[in-house]
Amino acid sequence: YRHFMEKEIHDQPGACQHTLSAYLDPVTGRARAPGGLDFSLVDRIQIVACGTAHYAGLISRYLFESLARIPVDIDVASEFRYRAPPVRKGTLCIAISQSGETADTLAALRWCRDQGLGTAAVVNVHTSTMAREADILLPTHAGPEIGVASTKAFTSQVAALTALAVAAAAARGRIDAAEEARLTRLLLEAPRLISGALALEDQIRALAPELAKARDVLYFGRGVMSALALEGALKLKEISYIHAEGYPAGELKHGPIALIDEATPVIVLAPSDALFEKTVSNTAEVMARGGPVIFITDEEGARRAPAGVRLIVTPGCDDIVAPLVYAVPIQMLAYYVAVQKGADVDQPRNLAKSVTVE
Ligand code: G6P
Repeated sequence: YRHFMEKEIHDQPGACQHTLSAYLDPVTGRARAPGGLDFSLVDRIQIVACGTAHYAGLISRYLFESLARIPVDIDVASEFRYRAPPVRKGTLCIAISQSGETADTLAALRWCRDQGLGTAAVVNVHTSTMAREADILLPTHAGPEIGVASTKAFTSQVAALTALAVAAAAARGRIDAAEEARLTRLLLEAPRLISGALALEDQIRALAPELAKARDVLYFGRGVMSALALEGALKLKEISYIHAEGYPAGELKHGPIALIDEATPVIVLAPSDALFEKTVSNTAEVMARGGPVIFITDEEGARRAPAGVRLIVTPGCDDIVAPLVYAVPIQMLAYYVAVQKGADVDQPRNLAKSVTVE
């Protein structure tokens, strides 16, 4: 591999598999929360995190709320620590952090602990301060991540949190054993599906020269894909220095559509899920204004996609694994655009792997 980031993108099937095996039992079909975490006692979740980890948290909010029916608040840690929200007993604080050392996330975790809340930390470095200080360690097993822009740590966080949402749904009686086993089986297919998405590499590399010329790029999607749109935009900004923004598709009309012209590429994240048609109509609005569209979808979505888009067709998958599958093309897109521009992919200017000061 030319760069650590490229290697780490390709490490993701293994990283996800190792992570999922800490939470899912393929034999019994059960999802388990480590460390004696009992979700039947949790009334509410407060997620704190920074950067990419925050976006993993945003994705998990959809799952904790829709599957397990636990209300979730989520804040970037640097805001949370000074927001001083009223504390409700029964709230579980979940800090998400690759390094386990990010100063703001650690401070937010400590603040929750000092308010008497239970704390858990989704961390990749198991000897880190957060791993030690949280009541419960929720490990990811991505292995060491060297590239400053997070890739396999992100998908491992999403995998762990998705498995936890299934465990929480089961513990709270929201799904029966058969549904738990079905979701477990679907999630365990993630490594294979991620490998399938990696096979899109040549197609994505071919898009890079065009995208590298852009000054601005917009990403949009609905539901969990709106959170992934934020991550896609962040990846591109971090390593290629192209201005990018992620938006929930329904918000386009409230501002970003004003930016669209022939020189502003738009990346649409559009699995053929319940919201697909709405995403298609937002895409049509973009195309009517001349914006070139890269439409990332599955085979079913490709059949129903608007004419004139550039299609990237991912392996078809269930909604529960879609964030893991769609993460791969957006990471590769950022990577190849950065390579095209000759940027220092693993050490982008002004950024640090771990931000241990405020
Ligand atoms: C830095 C890194 C990001 C990372 C963020 C949070 O900004 O460059 O890739 O997402 O910190 O780091 P953490 O270790 O807490 O996940």
